[in-house]
Amino acid sequence: MEFSKVISLRKSIRSYSNKQVEKEKLKKILELTRLAPSWANKQCCRYIVVTDQSKIDEFGGISNSWLKQAPVVIVACADPNDSGSRNGMEYYLVDVGISMQQLILTATDLGLSTCWIGGFNETKIKKVLDVPNNIKVVGLTPLGYAKEKESLTSKIAKKIVGSEKRKLLDEIVHKEKW
Ligand SMILES: Cc1cc2nc3c(=O)[nH]c(=O)nc-3n(C[C@H](O)[C@H](O)[C@H](O)COP(=O)(O)O)c2cc1C
Repeated sequence: MEFSKVISLRKSIRSYSNKQVEKEKLKKILELTRLAPSWANKQCCRYIVVTDQSKIDEFGGISNSWLKQAPVVIVACADPNDSGSRNGMEYYLVDVGISMQQLILTATDLGLSTCWIGGFNETKIKKVLDVPNNIKVVGLTPLGYAKEKESLTSKIAKKIVGSEKRKLLDEIVHKEKW
């Protein structure tokens, strides 16, 4: 797919069909995610691919409830000690952000849907997945095929945050100085 089409097609999807994700597609997504840039090329990101339905059901209770429908959930983690910090910024968050976006755009290109989720209880997610203490869980995303008929919960979530809206260029771009 043309790159600009991938960008404009990507949307946060909150209702999933029960169609399984093909192994080759999952592999390609992870391969392209792996190529993301990172602080000093330290590659602090780690991904947990969850397909066990009982675990995904548990996520529904400790994060967004609609997550339960997803055939795959990918949990993005990082070791903060394996990245840098400067000007008070922890760069492991940037590293994960970049690679997650590569994951999300590759999934879009392959006809799959995702939704970055920051609303979760980290302690509980770490317990379900045996994540070591020194590792941070930064975000997670369902991965699967969008349901043809969008759920009411999804419609409401989109309305609340105004998902379709974007600021105008003039509101976000300064010329020559702030
Ligand atoms: C860091 C981050 C955290 C987010 N957390 C959630 C979340 O917990 N639940 C949710 O439904 N969507 C979440 N979203 C998705 C945003 O609501 C969504 O990206 C935004 O409304 C724009 O819509 P779009 O992605 O469809 O373009 C998150 C997005 C980002 C980047």
